[in-house]
Amino acid sequence: MAEHPAYPVGLRLSGRRVVVLGGGQVAQRRLPALIAAGADIVLVSPEATPSVEAMADAGEITWVRRGYEDGDLAEAWYALIATSDPAANTAASAEAERHRVWCVRSDDADQATAWTPATGHSEGVTVAVLTTHARGRDPRHTAAIRDAVVEGLRDGTLVAPHHRTRTPGVALVGGGPGDPDLITVRGRRLLAEADVVIADRLGPRDLLAELPPHVEVIDAAKIPYGRYMAQEAINHALVEHAKQGKAVVRLKGGDPFVFGRGMEEVQALAEAGIPCTVVPGISSSISVPGAAGIPVTHRGVAHEFTVVSGHVAPDDERSLVDWPSLAKLTGTLVVLMGVDKIGKIAETLVAHGRPPATPVALVQEGTTAAQRRVDATLATVAETVRAEDVKPPAVIVIGEVVRVGPAPSA
Ligand SMILES: C[S@@+](CC[C@H](N)C(=O)[O-])C[C@H]1O[C@@H](n2cnc3c(N)ncnc32)[C@H](O)[C@@H]1O
Repeated sequence: MAEHPAYPVGLRLSGRRVVVLGGGQVAQRRLPALIAAGADIVLVSPEATPSVEAMADAGEITWVRRGYEDGDLAEAWYALIATSDPAANTAASAEAERHRVWCVRSDDADQATAWTPATGHSEGVTVAVLTTHARGRDPRHTAAIRDAVVEGLRDGTLVAPHHRTRTPGVALVGGGPGDPDLITVRGRRLLAEADVVIADRLGPRDLLAELPPHVEVIDAAKIPYGRYMAQEAINHALVEHAKQGKAVVRLKGGDPFVFGRGMEEVQALAEAGIPCTVVPGISSSISVPGAAGIPVTHRGVAHEFTVVSGHVAPDDERSLVDWPSLAKLTGTLVVLMGVDKIGKIAETLVAHGRPPATPVALVQEGTTAAQRRVDATLATVAETVRAEDVKPPAVIVIGEVVRVGPAPSA
């Protein structure tokens, strides 16, 4: 058997009985895919790992709590033999052969009649990698090939064009805080498929350099306003490019809906009848503090965090923020776009009850190579920002959570 290459096939197991012998680590690893395939799974094993037990408790598998007995495989379409008892595995394997049930063996690939490929998924396709012959099997190598293919498809370094017609339209993609690794898998894939990318200053700029030369990259800040306001000009550009049948990605920093004016773009696209997909992103409001060693919540310290825009001062009539109420809360305050106004903000918080010694951290250009953290208190922050020349973009964290992590090195 081992002299011939394995014949790859995809089993459609929905509603069909699959028998799993042994409830250990192998079963734990394989069961989720069998459950996802809709198989009618019977696990035969005196013991099971807590995760496997949880699958039985959830009704995802039927657990027969005993060792293997002859006849267990009679009704099966497929079997996974993975007990810790070699004699039981051999006996079960022989029974599978008798009943013509394809079976995988965790202890002896040579004796198995089926092998489990290393699998991964990308855009509705399953990538399955099998060793050709039993001799020379190298599961790590097959897993590495699987990873290379799946990762390559996800990050666009492997390009497999779609032959079905692409839906033109706009994808509003949250690019995360700046580190190119912190965009979502879906965002990165859409970027790899884009004809036009309209990008903000903030966000993963490095990803733009990786785009193929035919992709038109437009800096949103440089779109001429003409007769429009800046945001209207961006909306107009999105609509016009999409109308030309192009796949447009609107790449935004963080999450599109956290002080990102994302919904204005969604509305403009809806009015123009252009399809729009929204891809959430990792917001700087949580990730930038985290990257600087500050958790926005911590047990026994902060049970809430509030994300606030500091782009207008508390005494500015355009401000929609109730700073006096925020001053009375004891949890974490995360201020975005607040570097210029932090003096007024700190003053207002103290005037309405926050202790002047409340710790404050400013994290500038978080998650990028230029990340910098500056610590202060509400009493000292205005002076510290001046003395340390803290510049936007920065996330400002106010509250005791600033002190819970290990002392910052910078
Ligand atoms: C217009 S808001 C957009 C926020 C974005 N939508 C998000 O979810 O992160 C821009 C503000 O986000 C914060 N910000 C975004 N990226 C940052 C980063 N890498 N480091 C520090 N602050 C950042 C700064 O406060 C900046 O002024």
